[in-house]
Amino acid sequence: MMHNVGSALRSALTQGLIRDEDTAVIFYDLSFLEARIRYLTSSFPPETLHGLAVKANPLTRIMEFAARLAPNIGVEAASIGEVTMALHTGYRPDQVIFDSPVKTISDLIFAISRGIHLNIDNLSELERVNQLILAGSLTPVGLVGIRINPQIGVGTILESSVAGAYSKFGVPINIYHTELEQAFLTCPWLTGVHLHVGSQGCSMQMLTDGIGVLYDFVLGMNEKRSKIGMTPISVFDIGGGLPISYHSEIPPPSMQEYVSKIAMRAPQLFHPASFKLMTEFGRWVYTNAGYTISRVEYVKREPAINTAMLHVGAGLFVREGLNPRDWHHEYSVFDRHGNLKSGQDDFAYNLAGPLCFSGDIIAKNVLLPRIEEGDYLVIHDTGGYTFSMWSRYNSRQTPRILGYHGDCFEILKERESLEELQRFWE
Ligand SMILES: Cc1ncc(COP(=O)(O)O)c(C=O)c1O
Repeated sequence: MMHNVGSALRSALTQGLIRDEDTAVIFYDLSFLEARIRYLTSSFPPETLHGLAVKANPLTRIMEFAARLAPNIGVEAASIGEVTMALHTGYRPDQVIFDSPVKTISDLIFAISRGIHLNIDNLSELERVNQLILAGSLTPVGLVGIRINPQIGVGTILESSVAGAYSKFGVPINIYHTELEQAFLTCPWLTGVHLHVGSQGCSMQMLTDGIGVLYDFVLGMNEKRSKIGMTPISVFDIGGGLPISYHSEIPPPSMQEYVSKIAMRAPQLFHPASFKLMTEFGRWVYTNAGYTISRVEYVKREPAINTAMLHVGAGLFVREGLNPRDWHHEYSVFDRHGNLKSGQDDFAYNLAGPLCFSGDIIAKNVLLPRIEEGDYLVIHDTGGYTFSMWSRYNSRQTPRILGYHGDCFEILKERESLEELQRFWE
């Protein structure tokens, strides 16, 4: 997504927001982010709870910003740390969906007794919760669901696909169908189902197929539950996973089209009297809203390749570092005053980060305008799954993070000081 990077960069420079020590800065276009979130909420029925995935973007200021936009914005938390951060930011417990696959007993007690919406990950966890409830030491205040793996297959990125025949997440429906039925027929407090098919690389059709598998299961279970006088399963959490485009030329899949597909396959999910729908989008909400600039500290020129030495690399782009073939970004080059450079240098560039290992190269052989020391390299589409994955290797200070509407900037997070860095290791 191209945004108006040049004018934002020039405004930030003019306003003194990029100081000499700000060797890298992460930007968020808050108007774009607002539009994304409003489009999301308007695509689904108004009763839907949208748990925005904290793992994609845990910045407090951004979580506060999202919460102000609509009352049905919540968070999806993957750890007790993310749960606590969300509560601290001001989200009510019933706006928090807690999904970790390794919850401890104290995590479970905390979530269930506080009224946080809990998705149980596996049958052993279910047994733990059941025992606590049977022993009378716990009464569920909020909604409790269970994550089911619909086993519909993997997408184009294996590492972010979680609904194959094998997955470390959830209860595989084909293997444990009987046990799942048993659970839903004996635990009246278990009123929700949860799935998440994968993150990027899984098509809209795969996501819809996964929902379809669970939908059929739930309709069947509800018939059986009603025959024995149990309340129906009424919470349906479809997870996240709608892919985005990292290429400005390729249009991303449309959220409205996804919603229509779900409505065709699973129409009752859109009857608020029958189901409470929940979503957990992360990448689709955040990634295109942000980009990162790094000052080019040096340019190393060799006979057939140039290397631009940057202040961010695999420490910020962890997935790109680990699986470079799966993750793509677009790049552009600006001079030190924020003017876009054009043309193409004779030789391509490797874009190298500052860390002490040779794999710290975020992209190889990229054709770019001629880069000089002091220029800014812009890495596009970095608003999700980048800073949240920051690595402490080599103890680099975390960069300043700026948000803006037009010309109006706010500091979303200050650059880490050397004292704060020191404290991290103490
Ligand atoms: C359980 C769960 N929900 C939601 C998400 C968010 O996925 P995405 O950012 O692709 O929308 C993830 C991502 O890994 C996840 O594991």
